Amino acid sequence: GETITVGELARAMGVKAGELIKKLMSLGVMSTINQPLDYDTASLVASEFDYEVKQVGFVEEDVLKPIPDKPEDLKPRPPVVTVMGHVDHGKTSLLDAIRHTNVISIETGGITQHIGAYYVNLDKGNVVFLDTPGHEAFTAMRARGAQVTDIVVLVVAADDGVMEQTREAINHAKEAGVPIVVAINKIDKPNANPEKVKRELSKLGLTPEEWGGDTLYAEISAKKRIGIDNLLELILLQAEMLELKANPNKPARGIVIEARLDKGRGPVATVLVKEGTLKIGDFFVCGLHYGKIRAMFNDRGESVRKVGPSLPVEIQGISGVPEAGDSLVVVKDEKIAKEISHYRQQKQREATLVRAGVSLENLYEKIE
Ligand code: GTP
Ligand code: MG
Repeated sequence: GETITVGELARAMGVKAGELIKKLMSLGVMSTINQPLDYDTASLVASEFDYEVKQVGFVEEDVLKPIPDKPEDLKPRPPVVTVMGHVDHGKTSLLDAIRHTNVISIETGGITQHIGAYYVNLDKGNVVFLDTPGHEAFTAMRARGAQVTDIVVLVVAADDGVMEQTREAINHAKEAGVPIVVAINKIDKPNANPEKVKRELSKLGLTPEEWGGDTLYAEISAKKRIGIDNLLELILLQAEMLELKANPNKPARGIVIEARLDKGRGPVATVLVKEGTLKIGDFFVCGLHYGKIRAMFNDRGESVRKVGPSLPVEIQGISGVPEAGDSLVVVKDEKIAKEISHYRQQKQREATLVRAGVSLENLYEKIE
């Protein structure tokens, strides 16, 4: 994990630093007393002094291992629903329509910040929607198998039918084992042909219930706000079948939906809490970075002090800008957070050097 400097290694072995520097030189490594050594170099040179260097990587995996839950600790949580589909089939319009049916989000002015997830309160339950279109974030999330999504709402335009990204979306959902609710959109259009869409989708394994299959279908017009309530009911029905639960009473783990560098606030990230409760003051590791939660804002831009499972939140207090799809894990203290972050950064630097074909050896050849 943490690197050891030449001076520290010398002290640990009870040899003079100068002696160690000489030995390193004989191995082709030029160093100074404050120079950090990577594990391989440290163990190689230590073996010359008959010492063995143990990699105290605090075995990253150990610290970050998920804490198993007792069944009684699991509490119901809202479903996370991702809207997917071919370009222009009406994903954003559907999200707009949903937001308009939700009184709370109208009253508070909706989403002004560029946030990729939002929370909708419905009479029969709450839902978290992910606004995927145009998200760089989404590519990363798809690649990671839709880790955060419980349900995919597949939007297919009734006048256009199944297209390339429709198929792609189905494949991603299948790979991730995520159920699909189909929303046939644009039924207000004169050339709309929902039956054709159903036939096409049935061939891809999404047979409607009315035809003996088990896929839930809604026929909607996002533009004219037709069938939106029915779609929301189907989503809640699907969610009910999944019996989604998480333990809110433990240190939080989450996934980065999107992240950016804000001029005034520094690195900010939208994180979806998967389990546990994220609180102000928590220390955490996030991708290559670490930090302490300094401030949190919900999807309506309101400051919040703690956030439970399924909820999206924008956080401040990260040492750098993480990547979409990175996990956020709360750890005991700042020291551990820092160590893991440094360890990961070092690993990444090494991997980058290897990719660039740079070994220490040819590095020195070049210098000479
Ligand atoms: P991308 O984000 O680019 O993939 O597109 P999208 O799937 O989010 O589609 P968007 O909501 O931007 O809609 C594309 C176009 O279709 C817009 O011009 C919408 O007004 C129109 N549209 C969306 N829903 C409906 C609908 O129900 N009926 C009609 N007639 N037009 C619709
Ligand atoms: Mg869109």
